[in-house]
Formats: sequence, C-alpha cells, structure tokens
Amino acid sequence: MGSNIQQKELVFSTENFIKQHFATDSSGHDWFHIDRVRNMALKIAAVEGGNLFLIEMAALLHDLDDWKLGNGDDVSKTKHWLSQIAIDQEDAKVIEDIINQVSFKGAGVETKAESVEAKIVQDADRLDAIGAIGIARTFAYGGNKQRLLHDPDIKPQLHNSFEEYKKTTAPTINHFYEKLLLLKDRMNTKAAQEIAEERHRFMEDFLEQFFSEWNCKK
Ligand code: NI
Repeated sequence: MGSNIQQKELVFSTENFIKQHFATDSSGHDWFHIDRVRNMALKIAAVEGGNLFLIEMAALLHDLDDWKLGNGDDVSKTKHWLSQIAIDQEDAKVIEDIINQVSFKGAGVETKAESVEAKIVQDADRLDAIGAIGIARTFAYGGNKQRLLHDPDIKPQLHNSFEEYKKTTAPTINHFYEKLLLLKDRMNTKAAQEIAEERHRFMEDFLEQFFSEWNCKK
C-alpha cells in the first residue's frame, strides 16, 4: 500500500485518463456517470467503511471494460492502465477483482459482491441506474442502441442467463421490469438501500404516468 500522496496522484491521473476516455459517450456511461458513482461510493463508504483508495480507483475504472460498451472480448483496458501507473501490484489485483464483481448480468443471474469495497461500488453503480437519473440514462442507452421507447406487444422477460440478457433488443420500457425495478432489493449495504427507496418510488410513479399518457388517460 503506497503513501497518501502517492495514492492521491494515482487517483488524479486515473481520473484524467477516464475523463478523456469517456468524453464523447452518449449511452449514459459518460464521465459524469463515473464521477457520480465515485462520489456515491465514497459517501456510502463514509457510513459502511472499506478502503477509500481501492473504492475510488475501482469506481473510476468500473466501466472501462464493461461488456455493454462493446469491450467484452478486448484485452482488458483496466489491466493495461494499471500496469502503466506506479501502483502496488496487490492493490491493482484487488481493484480488478472489485470491478469484475460489479456488473449486472440479468434478472435471474446472481452477481455476488464479496468484499465491502465491491459491495459499495456495486451499490453506487446501481443507484445511478435508478431514480430520475436512472430513467434519463435508460432512455439515452436505448436511443444509442436504436430501441423503441415502448411496444405493448413485446412483454418484459426475466433473463436467467447472462447470454440471454446480453442479446436482448427489447424496447426501453421493458428494461425497467427486467432490471431497474429489481435493483432496490439487491442493494448490498443499508446506506444504499435507504437511498434506493425514494429512487424506486420515483420510477414507479414515472411508469404509472407513462402508461396513463400512453393510453390517453391523462
Ligand atoms: Ni457504471
């Protein structure tokens, strides 16, 4: 484990690298998503504990190799970045482990976070997928993938395998039922559960209003 000053420098250079890397993303995974996840993870860590340096580094790097962003089969960009900076080998390995545990892979697929650091980064990432920002990001992602907003003939599915979940091309509204409304009960930490409650209610209200308008009832 390096000194505090070394760690600050590592965070700073990683932040700059990620800012540039995600500068032009339009799928809801832009730099500000990463920055919110980092800030939320540190906020949760203030209550739940965990190693702040590892949490902050993992949060900054968590989407760099994400399968949703088309990086699934590439050589790991995270590994490459960590090999370029002056970070303790042990720390680099822990950060990679945290990131591997974070991603959602389908309603029926268990993604287990083991360490307190992984639990916190996963919760922070999932909190950014729900509530008002979650709604905005979901439609941005759907637009980016050229999906319909809604099609009453295509029913939501609870995917039991990561392969199935990965292949879905369903309208964006289905994503609320296939993932977003499930997240509240999958938070690892109490601090995140509390924040999730209000965000969850906001999505339910949104969906109710959406379908009322869809059916010309309001
Ligand atoms: Ni993310």
